Amino acid sequence: MEIRAALREQLIGAGQEHLVGVLATATPEDAASLGAQIAEIDFALIRELIDRFVGGAYMDAVGGSLSPCEAIPLPRTDEEYAARDRARSSGEDALRAGRVAAILLAGGQGTRLGFDGPKGNFPFGAITGRTLFAHHAAKIVALRSRYECALPWIVLTSPVNDDATRTAFAEANWFGLDRDSIEFVVQGTLPAVDALTGEILREASGEIARSPDGHGGVLLALARAGTFARLRAHGITTLFTFQVDNPLTSIADPVFLGHHIAAGAEMSNLAVRKRTADEPVGVIATRDAATVVVEYSDLPADLAGARDDDGHLVLWAGNVATHYIELSFADALTANGFALPYHRAVKVVPYLDDAGLQVTPIAPNAIKFETFLFDALPMARATITVEVAREEQFSPIKNAEGPDSPATCRRDVNRLYASWLRAAGVEVATTDDGEPVDLEIDPRCALDANDVAARLAHLGPIHTPTLLAPS
Ligand code: UD1
Repeated sequence: MEIRAALREQLIGAGQEHLVGVLATATPEDAASLGAQIAEIDFALIRELIDRFVGGAYMDAVGGSLSPCEAIPLPRTDEEYAARDRARSSGEDALRAGRVAAILLAGGQGTRLGFDGPKGNFPFGAITGRTLFAHHAAKIVALRSRYECALPWIVLTSPVNDDATRTAFAEANWFGLDRDSIEFVVQGTLPAVDALTGEILREASGEIARSPDGHGGVLLALARAGTFARLRAHGITTLFTFQVDNPLTSIADPVFLGHHIAAGAEMSNLAVRKRTADEPVGVIATRDAATVVVEYSDLPADLAGARDDDGHLVLWAGNVATHYIELSFADALTANGFALPYHRAVKVVPYLDDAGLQVTPIAPNAIKFETFLFDALPMARATITVEVAREEQFSPIKNAEGPDSPATCRRDVNRLYASWLRAAGVEVATTDDGEPVDLEIDPRCALDANDVAARLAHLGPIHTPTLLAPS
């Protein structure tokens, strides 16, 4: 194929001369498909990222000294309980006023779980096999009804899972929600490059190897789709963002919202106490008077393991990756170029070499580039972090087995449901392994302990696996 001089120059200027050769010898179909993908690449950005990250010498440095994050603690004193109640009441007012939209981050590849398809399709329900998408959707239904508000729902997808995600929602008849009240926004991708040479890899003869640009890409995607402007026109001031893999997420939590509002925060964070020094969660900390999240992979072991005189982890605050973000702040982060920094991830990426031979590396061979939403925290005028109880709000599904797996998540969700029912005076039997019998509470039936006390306290003893769902 003849290659336009401008394209040739652009590829050579970006250190991607090999693609000139690939295009020249490709079939017309492959050349057309590669050409279309190449046209979408921001070469100035890729050049900059390669200069910065490729070549082996780069280390993600944890600059500056980190001190523990100052969080609003779990309430223990009367005063703290009163503050929590005030926060709930102000958060509920904002929800009733229709100021909040919920954004589900579901554009990731979910490689660790080894599940085929969008992670939101994972059937986590202990009894019904209800999917994560269905579970989150049922909460949105319940919240809209409880607060009589629109609570628009935005689902971030990526080219790797957009079709499958929309199909899942359509096949479930939008989980009972009005189709127009859910907006799918597709995040961008960035090419994966060879870790030694910086050359953009091809996944197949007509395909550039691309991966989602990290959940920070939600900001670019929403700006491009015109979503910020639409939400503003509907009176939305505040965005609640959450991850697809944590069924315990308290979507649009009013206490968290009330604290966020009272602090005049532009972006806020939820924290849980880290289980162990090496738990794979980001750490929320303070650096140069700003709130930061340091990803577990970037935190040196001595810092992660440092303990105070009482034996507690100094950097105790694990990142739940759930935020409230002011719409005006989110919008400003993309107004004059994109404000978030890029990170690199070194991964195994199978590819076609320039001779067209398929290569399946046995060790990480490629660099992917990503931005993280929480990197906006230090840019916010004010932030707050709120500590929550892990057993109430955090049990993600990350791995196929072991910690943070479907088994631990089902166990934790079950324990929480049992605690709500027992607190309401309902007897729940315990099985031989000491755990409560399997329970599923459809969020449309009860969203929390208060709903259970108000609606389900009349139930007789529960001795067998039980689904509590609206009739
Ligand atoms: C993430 C956080 C970590 C936190 C932990 C809590 C990052 C980089 N780290 O780790 O600090 O303690 O969750 O569970 O987020 N996603 C997208 N688009 C992308 C990439 C990811 O939408 O391009 C979504 C995923 O679908 C998922 C979420 O972001 O919902 C988390 O992504 P993942 O890569 O699984 O992060 P973790 O390593 O689990």
